[in-house]
Amino acid sequence: DPPTRAVTLTVNGTARTVHVAPWVSLLDTLRDHLDLTGSKKGCDHGQCGACTVICNGQRILSCLTLAVMQDGAEITTIEGIGAEGKLHPLQEAFIAYDAFQCGYCTPGQICSSIAMIEAGHGNTREEVKDLMSGNLCRCGANTNIIDAIMAVKDGAHE
Ligand code: FES
Ligand code: FES
Repeated sequence: DPPTRAVTLTVNGTARTVHVAPWVSLLDTLRDHLDLTGSKKGCDHGQCGACTVICNGQRILSCLTLAVMQDGAEITTIEGIGAEGKLHPLQEAFIAYDAFQCGYCTPGQICSSIAMIEAGHGNTREEVKDLMSGNLCRCGANTNIIDAIMAVKDGAHE
């Protein structure tokens, strides 16, 4: 067996300890060790944004960081967005504005845009476009995604 290390992450509000090899990405840790498969593996190389999660308040590409580097971190994944039986305003806006088709990019889009909004960034449509450019959508829903984010920013869905 490969050598493993204990890593404790607070994931969606719950402390979880996993034993992972030092080269295992945060994305694989979430998906394979914690059964949180909402974060998607599109490219595994930092190029698509499908794996975006919120780590200590900032959006990160979970395929590009190792679990051992995040020991002690607070992670929010798409599973932790919204409350039981109640969608987050951004999730509602994604539905209202038709901001997904296959849905593969959606968890990353939502985590990315929530962290962007909470950081107070993306105050114009151009800025939102720019700041969301790391989250690709192969289905071409980008315009609707920006519409949904702008609706939340403008308070239409709060
Ligand atoms: Fe991480 Fe594509 S899977 S950026
Ligand atoms: Fe299919 Fe974005 S909805 S990749």
